[in-house]
Amino acid sequence: MSTSQRGILILDFGSQYTQLIARRIREQHVYSEIVPHDIAASEVARHNPYALIFSGGPSSVYTSAATRYDREILALKLPMLGICYGLHLLSDYHGGRVENLNQGEYGFANLEIDDDNNLLAQVPGGTQVWMSHQDQVVELPPEWKILAQSSNGIVAAIGNQSAQRYAVQFHPEVAHTVDGATILHNFMFKIAGCRPDWTPGNFISQQIDRIRATVGEGQVLCGVSGGVDSSVVAALLHRALGKQVTAVLIDHGLLRKNEAQQCVAALRHGLGVNIQLVDESRRFLTRLEGVSDPERKRKIIGEQFIRAFEHSARGLGAYQFLAQGTLYPDLIESGGAQLGPAAVIKSHHNVGGLPDDMDFELIEPLKDLFKDEVRRVGSELGLPESLIARHPFPGPGLAVRIIGEITAERLEILREADDIYLNVLHEENLYHEIWQAFAVLIPVKTVGVMGDARTYENLLGLRAVVSVDGMTADWFRLPQEVLSRISNRIVNSVTGINRVVYDITSKPPGTIEWE
Ligand code: XMP
Repeated sequence: MSTSQRGILILDFGSQYTQLIARRIREQHVYSEIVPHDIAASEVARHNPYALIFSGGPSSVYTSAATRYDREILALKLPMLGICYGLHLLSDYHGGRVENLNQGEYGFANLEIDDDNNLLAQVPGGTQVWMSHQDQVVELPPEWKILAQSSNGIVAAIGNQSAQRYAVQFHPEVAHTVDGATILHNFMFKIAGCRPDWTPGNFISQQIDRIRATVGEGQVLCGVSGGVDSSVVAALLHRALGKQVTAVLIDHGLLRKNEAQQCVAALRHGLGVNIQLVDESRRFLTRLEGVSDPERKRKIIGEQFIRAFEHSARGLGAYQFLAQGTLYPDLIESGGAQLGPAAVIKSHHNVGGLPDDMDFELIEPLKDLFKDEVRRVGSELGLPESLIARHPFPGPGLAVRIIGEITAERLEILREADDIYLNVLHEENLYHEIWQAFAVLIPVKTVGVMGDARTYENLLGLRAVVSVDGMTADWFRLPQEVLSRISNRIVNSVTGINRVVYDITSKPPGTIEWE
């Protein structure tokens, strides 16, 4: 990450795979950033990237509805790679012709590689690639050459080696393209001259400099939730500012067994962070009394959280900065990705519902990172693996895993059962194969027999899913003997549960949580 020339810019023309391009590049330790397709050439130049990538997208270059972009960008003297629609765009701009010959390719194809070239170096002939296109190049731009064709006879890669411009019809960023990483590697290192300096260590030292420069002698308040992102923010700020940072964990009483204590121990005793644990569980439970509707639960918890945070913030003194663990995908999804390295900090007056008179500047040091990168930064900062590799956990916590009304007794039952479930998954080395696993307390009582006595107790649901981003998910195929062990252990040791069921619904049609 040099402060002068920096990473690769990806112009997003609306492909469903744009985020994947960014990830694949960063996996090879080169910084990458997604920018909107209509970014101005002057803005691109201001970024000073090593190279540009034009993503795929749904439109056709030859229609009046083609996605607009600043043609001046193509006049910049930078290495460029077009992917799918990006190939059509580069080809069209440089004087080639793109048409729809009703000969689309969707899914696997194999490459016939026509020439020795830097882009496809070390890629064997016949390699499998992933296609998803209808339009194709029917006439090459002057001075461009075909580098590969697909097994269907369609132009699959083209280039103008002396101008350092290349384009591929297939998607090197998806896992189905067997040599995709090699192709991206060739573009970054053989063509664009990138340096592999996007590492957790570099990220941390760069952020420390920026945070110090911004905060100066000021005081920072850091909200911690018990999860990975906010813990990493607290650890990073502590490394940068020491005693100028106060972290606060509001315990709403809806966390898992020992979760708040473990997080506080890792930060306070492990790293020396000044963290306050504020027990607000009574107040939250009182406000949730008699509430069964999931959306009302969420609303109450959200409002109460803001109130509790505001209250403890005021009690802790004067703070000019508020730090939070916003990640890159949060910004991309909300369409709010900020441009440029200076955007690490932005002024904010009403953070997530805090009152207007609480005037903070917002610090979001993880706003350039994907989740897996946050985990690597957390490891480098010395946070324990048990915290870093934890499954995602929803803000409203166990409240959305107790179907129906929440009571202290039901929370206790669920906490115990959930803890046993997760412990068995750890013992069986299955925890890390699963994206998210949890227990759900269902407001149904069923009859059982234990010893010689009839029981009439609660039903418990177990959920385990595999997923990439939580948007879609499949239920995890837990081995029968493991299911059996979990069920036995829970029914034998948790008073109040006498039956266990396993959820075999994918998402869609189900959601991951039950509420
Ligand atoms: P669903 O249930 O919608 O969940 O398939 C997808 C992912 O989001 C988490 N989730 C939440 N996270 N507040 C959060 O912070 C919420 O209200 C919430 N609801 C669901 C869920 O745990 C899963 O990882």
